[in-house]
Amino acid sequence: VRYTVVIPAAGKGKRMGADENKLMLTLQGKPIIVWTVAAFARDAWCARIVLAVRPEEQAWFEQQLRHVQTPITYVTGGEERQQSVRAGLQVVNPEDVVLIHDGARPFVRLDQLHAIAEAAKTAGAILAVPVKDTVKQVMDGHITQTVPREALWLAQTPQAFPAGAIQAAHERAEAARFIGTDDASLFEWTGQRVTIIPGDYHNIKMTTPEDLLFGEAILTKEDYR
Ligand code: CTP
Ligand code: MG
Repeated sequence: VRYTVVIPAAGKGKRMGADENKLMLTLQGKPIIVWTVAAFARDAWCARIVLAVRPEEQAWFEQQLRHVQTPITYVTGGEERQQSVRAGLQVVNPEDVVLIHDGARPFVRLDQLHAIAEAAKTAGAILAVPVKDTVKQVMDGHITQTVPREALWLAQTPQAFPAGAIQAAHERAEAARFIGTDDASLFEWTGQRVTIIPGDYHNIKMTTPEDLLFGEAILTKEDYR
């Protein structure tokens, strides 16, 4: 299955607390975005990479990714992740399968990319992992409910879709000013089916400072380099 990947990379990384876009921070001496793009550049199924970036940072990304063989198209990201993804989707052929993947998630494996691309020929599909901890619902510092864990999964990316269908969902969400925290939520919101592909706990998002430590640990394993 040939696919295009849209990678939102236009965030600020507030929760990381660095004074630059967190995708510029390094793991094993290489910027996070370089690891993430490499995961797709080595996949023969990936025909094209679309990166949504902040205009003032585009030159930095181009410089860092100049050796990547897969064609890269740059678009201007927006204030919210959803707007950055939408901008990326606008340059994708509606007939394609599209994968949407966080720039901040450098440890996605080839077999997972293929599983998700395969599943997206007919429906939406996302990688997710079962919740490991007991989840409490809390109000004013007190537990109001213990949420049964069996039904709970943590959504990851890539999330994959027939491009035309997710483009339409994004346009509808934009018109209705609906903001979801991931792309599957827009698909769900339009009443379309999304399949869960069991993922892998290594596929973490670099979000807060300790994630950099976990990232360095993951990179000691051959499979994730
Ligand atoms: N992203 C984006 N455009 C935005 C916000 C986020 O392209 N306006 C991208 C980020 O660059 C990241 C991905 O979406 O690769 C996942 O978002 P997140 O982890 O929330 O990154 P940030 O928004 O940068 O971090 P924070 O929420 O802590 O500020
Ligand atoms: Mg964010």
